[in-house]
Amino acid sequence: MIFYFSGTGNSRFVAKGIARTIGQEAVDITTYTRTMERPDFTDTGVYVFVCPSYMSAPARAMTDFVEWAGFPQGVKAYFIVTCAASMGITPRVSSEICDKKGMKFMGAEQIEMPQNYIAHFTTKQVEENIDIIEKAENEIERISGLIRNGEVLECKKIGAVEYSVTKWVRDVYYKDFMKTKKFKATDKCIACGKCTKVCPLSNITIENKRPVWGDKCTHCMACINQCPVDAIEYGKGSVGKPRYKGPEAGKTSEK
Ligand SMILES: Cc1cc2nc3c(=O)[nH]c(=O)nc-3n(C[C@H](O)[C@H](O)[C@H](O)COP(=O)(O)O)c2cc1C
Ligand code: SF4
Ligand code: SF4
Repeated sequence: MIFYFSGTGNSRFVAKGIARTIGQEAVDITTYTRTMERPDFTDTGVYVFVCPSYMSAPARAMTDFVEWAGFPQGVKAYFIVTCAASMGITPRVSSEICDKKGMKFMGAEQIEMPQNYIAHFTTKQVEENIDIIEKAENEIERISGLIRNGEVLECKKIGAVEYSVTKWVRDVYYKDFMKTKKFKATDKCIACGKCTKVCPLSNITIENKRPVWGDKCTHCMACINQCPVDAIEYGKGSVGKPRYKGPEAGKTSEK
């Protein structure tokens, strides 16, 4: 089974690519997390978890899901992380989760995809992202082949210092910096409601024809990037930057 969490479509694109190649379906974990009905999976085949790298580790939405859901003991699990540069301590984080859950860790891999963190980093124009996406397609093929053959993915050993420092930074970042105070809809807003639909945590409502952000944000950047009229800003961090519409931009950016 292939599960994915995705803010702006990169991880969905990768999950669907792997699913196509190994002949399975890719399932969005928000199918379960939105209803809070804890799934208890009985499939004894291979599990593949695909999500973005947030603060040098798999997005917490995904690690929380794996810790929360039920899986048969001893099943094989792969972690595939999409990132702008590096999956950081993903191998160790995901292997520890597998130990906790009684799953057999089959390794972790990163697939480089376009940067989506418009609040703090530089996003690129559609054309500039094409190269990155083409290389990613080759990586999807390569990694899918390894998964299909039941091979263990080679990953680097994460040392104790790198692990604890990164984990500490990550914890502080999630607690103190993944806030919504800086999100604002400008006068360009046409009250279409798309931001409410694309938020994977259902954290946005429309009040008086304007989006209002709640306090459950994981900074996935779906709302700000996918607004059809680019009406959302994140303080001064996003001003003047191209919105990242996802790897399928030009085809469809809808979930
Ligand atoms: C909150 C946040 C944190 C991120 N942290 C990292 C990171 O530590 N390393 C990295 O290479 N990319 C990082 N990125 C970039 C994303 O991992 C990358 O663009 C990813 O492919 C987005 O996937 P998605 O479209 O499925 O949401 C971060 C993005 C966000 C929004
Ligand atoms: S997606 Fe953009 S235009 Fe639509 S309601 Fe949200 S902020 Fe307004
Ligand atoms: S509010 Fe925006 S950035 Fe936060 S989780 Fe929802 S879509 Fe992502």
